[in-house]
Amino acid sequence: MKNILVIHGPNLNLLGKREPDVYGKVTLESINKELKALARKSKVGIKIFQTNTEGEIVDIIQKECESWADAMVINPAAYTHTSVAIREAISAVKISAVEVHLSNIFKREEFRHKSYISPVSAGGIFGFGKDSYILGFLAAVNISKTKR
Ligand code: DQA
Repeated sequence: MKNILVIHGPNLNLLGKREPDVYGKVTLESINKELKALARKSKVGIKIFQTNTEGEIVDIIQKECESWADAMVINPAAYTHTSVAIREAISAVKISAVEVHLSNIFKREEFRHKSYISPVSAGGIFGFGKDSYILGFLAAVNISKTKR
């Protein structure tokens, strides 16, 4: 059985209350519930983490990709636009990453147009609200079959 790691970055624990005009009213809990159901249907293992701390994301990637995960879905949130450390953690591991964003980062402020994560990801999905996670998860299930 293949295993998919899902990482939610900073402030995504506030989904539902946080800028609903941008991110919608969906909560992180309900996204996670849908992902778990999809994992069951797709017959893959799933582990989901949310943290507001950059170094913790690096630690999770290192630990879970060493032996457990076969692909990852990551929404690095604000760290997308700043984090060399998360980029290098993704580069360092042998599995593929799918970058997801609820919002279309290219339609928003200019500082969001730069992603440090895209160049080290297999691909990215953005702009579809919670469906970005669903589509990203399905992409990760597909690519989990070929470790990079
Ligand atoms: C986000 C987009 C980022 O620019 C922002 O900092 C977030 C959420 C998204 O999912 O649309 O926190 O990653």
